[in-house]
This record gives sequence, structure tokens and C-alpha cells, in this order.
Amino acid sequence: MRENERERSIRILYTQEEIQRRVQRMGRRISLDYAGRTPLFVGALRGCFVFMADLVRSIDLPVRVDFVELSSYGEKLYSSGEVRILKDLREDPAGRDVILVEDIVDTGHTLNFMVDHILQRGPASLRIAAMLVKEEKSRLRRPVDYSGYSIEDLFVVGYGMDAAENFRNLPYIGVLE
Ligand code: IMP
Ligand code: MG
Repeated sequence: MRENERERSIRILYTQEEIQRRVQRMGRRISLDYAGRTPLFVGALRGCFVFMADLVRSIDLPVRVDFVELSSYGEKLYSSGEVRILKDLREDPAGRDVILVEDIVDTGHTLNFMVDHILQRGPASLRIAAMLVKEEKSRLRRPVDYSGYSIEDLFVVGYGMDAAENFRNLPYIGVLE
């Protein structure tokens, strides 16, 4: 199937321009909130990679970046919330101002796990940035400090997010129809 054929079945929710404006705004807020500090951005691979690239480039401060990769069997099959670490941090978060970066918060299991994992290691502070949040479904134990959009319980793709590993490179966020 060619790319343009696949794209035909996607309804655009947020255009590239809308996303860019939102992310720039988040970046300005983070830059003000963290003035004088060097936040450590920790992204959850793989979905975060596009959002995180845009977010850190919209920040007018020195930053550090790191990544974790988690596998969550729970979510789709058993909703057990069980999460395993496939790739851990390289940086030591102890004493650092950590900002966790998620493409989309669905049940919140992934982020709850990441929050616990980082908190155990003694950061100076911990906040969350997420491009999308499914508010009604989310069972996040702490608020999302910087969020792009709240969405209904829809399955979205693009801007780093996939359906069976497809569509991550679409510059917009859409819903598979
Ligand atoms: P959670 O642990 O249920 O919050 O799920 C979070 C992860 O599942 C996200 O980081 C995404 O990688 C993936 N995910 C959740 N909802 C969607 C979606 O609508 N489209 C694509 N990926 C999603
Ligand atoms: Mg993700």
C-alpha cells in the first residue's frame, strides 16, 4: 500500500501548524518555569521522539535529554498495568529537575511506572509533559503539568504515534477511520 493510500483513511485532528503553536507555547512556559536551571527531559520511547525533538528545540535553556523504553503488556490485552523496562536511563536523575515526556497518556500506567521509577532515584523535582491526554480514561496519580490537548478515547496516529508501527512520520495527528 502506498503512503497516500494509507493517509486517505486518516481524519486529521490537529494540523502540523496547530501542533507547532501548542508545542512552542509549552516550550515558553517550561523556559520560564525552569529559568536558571538545566532540566533533564526523559522521554518514553518510541512514541515520544517527534514531540520531544520539537519540545526541546522550543526551550530557551540548556537541557539534557535521556530516554527509557518500556514494554506494557497490560494496556491492550489484560489492562493489568504491568510494565517492564527494556532500556533504562543513562543519566542519573538524582538531584536533577526531571521532566517526563510522553506522546499520549491513555490509561496512565506507563507514566505512573516512570514516575515511581524516577522518584525512587531522588530527583530534585519531577514534572510531566504530554502532547495528548485521554482525560476520561487516565488513571494518572499526578497531574500532567504541561499538556498539548485533551482528547476523547480515540486511537490516534502521527507525530510519533503509531498503529502497528505505521504512521509515526505523519507531521499531523489523526484518527484512523
Ligand atoms: P498508557 O500506559 O495506557 O497511558 O499508554 C501509553 C502509551 O500507549 C503511549 O505512550 C503510546 O505509546 C501508546 N498509546 C496509547 N494510546 C495511543 C493511541 O491512541 N495511539 C497510539 N499510541 C497510543
Ligand atoms: Mg509512548
